[in-house]
Amino acid sequence: MKTLVLVAHPNLDKSRVNKTWLEEIKKYPDMITVHDLYASYPDWRIDVECEQELAMKHDRIIFQFPFYWYSSPPLLKKWLDDVLTYGWGYTSKGGKLRGKELGLAISIGGSEMDYQPGGGDLYTIHELLSPFHATSNLIETELLMPFTFFDTDDKSGEELVSSARQYAEYLLADEITRFPSR
Ligand SMILES: Cc1cc2nc3c(=O)[nH]c(=O)nc-3n(C[C@H](O)[C@H](O)[C@H](O)COP(=O)(O)O)c2cc1C
Repeated sequence: MKTLVLVAHPNLDKSRVNKTWLEEIKKYPDMITVHDLYASYPDWRIDVECEQELAMKHDRIIFQFPFYWYSSPPLLKKWLDDVLTYGWGYTSKGGKLRGKELGLAISIGGSEMDYQPGGGDLYTIHELLSPFHATSNLIETELLMPFTFFDTDDKSGEELVSSARQYAEYLLADEITRFPSR
C-alpha cells in the first residue's frame, strides 16, 4: 500500500499540529510520500501532469490540511479544479483514480462538541465534509473515515506528539474504515 499525503497548509512555519504530524510521517518514506502543495507552488501554477502522475503511482491519497472557514485552504481547492479534469479525473467510463482510497486528515480549531448535532458550529464535521464525499463519489474513489484532531489551540506538546503517532498508524494501516455512505 503506497500512500500519498498532499499537504495544504498556507503557513506551515507557524503550524503546531500539521508540522508535528509531518515530522512523524516523514519517518516512513518507503510507504508514505509527503507532497507539500504550498511549498511546491508558491506561484499557484500547479504542474497538472506531474500531479496526475504522482497520484497514479499511489494506492491511497490523503488530503491533509487545517480546517479554515469550514473547508480546506484554497490551494487544495485549486488542486481539485486543475488536476481532476474531465477525461482524467472523471469520465463516463471512469476516471484514472477509480478504485483508489481517498482520505482526509484535518486539524480543527473548534471543539468536537461544537461539531455535534445542535452544537455551536451548526453542522457536524461529516456534514461539512460533504463536498469531499461528493467528489469522491464522482471520481469513484473509496472515501475513508477522516483522521480529525479537534481543539488544536488547547493541546499540549505531548498531545500533539501522541496525535502524530496515531496519524502515522492511521496512514500505515492496511485497512481503514470507510466513510459512511448516504
Ligand atoms: C484563516 C483561518 C480560518 C479558520 N477557520 C476555522 C474554522 O472554520 N473552524 C475551526 O474549527 N477552526 C478554524 N480555524 C482554526 C484552525 O483550524 C487551527 O488553527 C488549525 O487547525 C491548527 O493547525 P496548525 O497548528 O497546523 O496550524 C481557522 C484558522 C485560520 C487561521
